[in-house]
Amino acid sequence: MSSTSVRLFNWELEHPIILASGPFSNDEKSINNAFANGAAAVVTKTITAKNSNSSGCTRYRDLVFNRDGYSTKSLEEWASILETLRGRKVIASIFADTPEDLADLARFVVSHGVEVIELGLSCPTFGSDPVCFISEQLRAFCSAVRKAVNVPILVKILIATSREKNREMASCIKESGIEGISLSDTLPAIILNPKNGSMQLGGAGGLSGPLLKPLVLKAIYDISDIGLEIVGIGGIETAQDIMDYVHIGAGAVQVCSLIFKRKLGAIGELYKELSEELSSRGVCLKDLSSRTIREQED
Ligand SMILES: Cc1cc2nc3c(=O)[nH]c(=O)nc-3n(C[C@H](O)[C@H](O)[C@H](O)COP(=O)(O)O)c2cc1C
Repeated sequence: MSSTSVRLFNWELEHPIILASGPFSNDEKSINNAFANGAAAVVTKTITAKNSNSSGCTRYRDLVFNRDGYSTKSLEEWASILETLRGRKVIASIFADTPEDLADLARFVVSHGVEVIELGLSCPTFGSDPVCFISEQLRAFCSAVRKAVNVPILVKILIATSREKNREMASCIKESGIEGISLSDTLPAIILNPKNGSMQLGGAGGLSGPLLKPLVLKAIYDISDIGLEIVGIGGIETAQDIMDYVHIGAGAVQVCSLIFKRKLGAIGELYKELSEELSSRGVCLKDLSSRTIREQED
């Protein structure tokens, strides 16, 4: 085992860096490309039977702003993509409008070889509140999918600035028998066009990149004793960012915005930087777990 290896459910990952759901995992070629560039696992663009349209994304300072929606590929297209990727560490991100439909979609992706699912219950892209913020809905979606499939499940949430809300979401997920949580999705935002005051990309969208990291670290800290496997997402650009996420309680991490800046090659570079940093400190990634922080607190 290398100093960077981690376990995610039944998977032994060589390192903790997973490609997050987004535009770089919307087809077979991109997903294979991500693996070729060193991703330990890949989360698909969110698969849904809903009609979705994309207004794309744009850079804002050192951040990314998007109104990208869900995958516009049909379920038939995803069936054949997932079949060709059978046996690879592909996490299917899925969304549907009702708990029953999401349970059906979970069965569908599992029947095409998916070993881990991420429920995209966090999408803020089109202005309305995401499912994760409405407890009864969150419970209903989680319970329905939990009953439908046996594979490990991550629920992707959008962080709240309230500790109580973060704990409520995590407890809801845990009580439904689901094993893991991914946080965070992009934060809801509006970017105005300085020339005419209109909303960029046509409305409210999601903001991602370095701004997210301290906010997500706080949210992970809020929930780290609830007993869920935690996947940290937001603003990861360096080995230190990964180590901070692990230190606060994440078992693995996902990256997205970084790929806009540095292309998929950034994943392999990040892995190399992480290995070198851990070797120079003479520690394994696992040694950095949240225990240290908790001990200091006591
Ligand atoms: C253009 C774009 C599209 C995205 N699409 C999805 C998506 O389909 N499903 C999802 O769960 N998250 C989606 N995300 C959110 C990312 O997976 C990730 O949670 C977020 O960008 C924060 O990580 P980062 O700071 O590393 O970008 C998208 C992000 C961007 C920038």
